Amino acid sequence: MIRLENLTKHFEMPGKEPVIAANNVSMEVGKGEICIFLGPSGCGKTTALKMINKLIPKTSGKIYIDNKDTDNIDPIALRREIGYVIQQIGLFPNLTIEANICVVPDLLKMDKQQSRKKARELMEMVNLDPNIFLKRYPRELSGGQQQRIGVIRALAADPPVMLMDEPFGAIDPINREVIQDEFLKMNAELGKTVLFVSHDIDEAVKMGDQIAIFREGILEQCDTPDEILANPANNFVKEFVGSDRALKRLKLIPVSEAILPFRMAVNPDDPLGKVADKMRSREAHIAVMVGPRGRARGYITKEEINSDQSGVVSDYSDPLPGTIHENDNLHDAVSQMYSHATDWMPVVDDDGAYKGYITQHIIASLLGEAPRKRGDRIT
Ligand SMILES: Nc1ncnc2c1ncn2[C@@H]1O[C@H](COP(=O)(O)OP(=O)(O)OP(=O)(O)O)[C@@H](O)[C@H]1O
Ligand SMILES: [Mg+2]
Repeated sequence: MIRLENLTKHFEMPGKEPVIAANNVSMEVGKGEICIFLGPSGCGKTTALKMINKLIPKTSGKIYIDNKDTDNIDPIALRREIGYVIQQIGLFPNLTIEANICVVPDLLKMDKQQSRKKARELMEMVNLDPNIFLKRYPRELSGGQQQRIGVIRALAADPPVMLMDEPFGAIDPINREVIQDEFLKMNAELGKTVLFVSHDIDEAVKMGDQIAIFREGILEQCDTPDEILANPANNFVKEFVGSDRALKRLKLIPVSEAILPFRMAVNPDDPLGKVADKMRSREAHIAVMVGPRGRARGYITKEEINSDQSGVVSDYSDPLPGTIHENDNLHDAVSQMYSHATDWMPVVDDDGAYKGYITQHIIASLLGEAPRKRGDRIT
């Protein structure tokens, strides 16, 4: 969808050494993918975006969108296909929120009624009540709310490509998580191809199908989040992603993928002898007692029972060490395991039904496996 070939930018300044803001950058982003541009301040992220929509002329190299050489596309026509969220939000202070959102559709002479309707829909999508906010002015919104409007404005003309320059930078960490989730959900529906600038590795890991890491205009590595965390290409990338990169990888794996093959569900009135045999044949250390509506109610361990013991499961069951949802990620799971001082946890679905269990051992062995491929991101 978007292909950069040896993209280079030299900022020439009279009497000074030129700044090389992009140095032979080559990469490709597939249709519907989110690629995060990551790197320290001044590494050339904004410059790269601005060359793509021709706000800054490139020095050399090629930019293709949908296999079309953008050298042959008029800048105005090009920008119609590209939504741009600028780093400083940049709402027009003298226009209402509604007018701000509809700037591009109006410029493009799109149907006014349609674009107003679309504005309302987009507001709903990012959890801002259109009845309250559409008639306000930017100064009557918080910084975070303004940033949401900045994102919506770029989406208003429904462009297939979005360039987003630190779109959530002004939002506090808690609301940032919320708006990241909103954006991922929204884009799962809209299917835009997104280049997204960030300097936050956690945001990049969460949002990206791919992460491109830059240093001083050079693309140091471009790969899936898991590949970057598992196999950083060099020391710069390694230091940039942080010493807790193994733990960060846990965020990419859903709990459902770590569930042990045998569910080991037993009934409260199952005889212990039978349960002991089942545990032995499946080399399981734990069996989970399941009650009405498939709910996990307690558990027993191999150590507590043996084949010639009489009695039933409910006589010996212990209280569960909490439960974890199948759609949570392994980072959440490990953190819960530590706070409950346990090395295993039962997994439940939306209805609270027992699905199987995970252990610290299986989590550790998953981290030892090959990194996850493109498109495997969980949302
Ligand atoms: N118009 C310009 N003239 C000269 N140098 C420039 C110009 N614009 C940017 N630069 C330089 O190019 C380099 C890349 O800048 P750019 O704005 O792309 O960085 P960035 O990665 O977006 O940084 P940040 O995270 O701070 O936004 C920097 O060294 C910057 O000083
Ligand atoms: Mg920038």
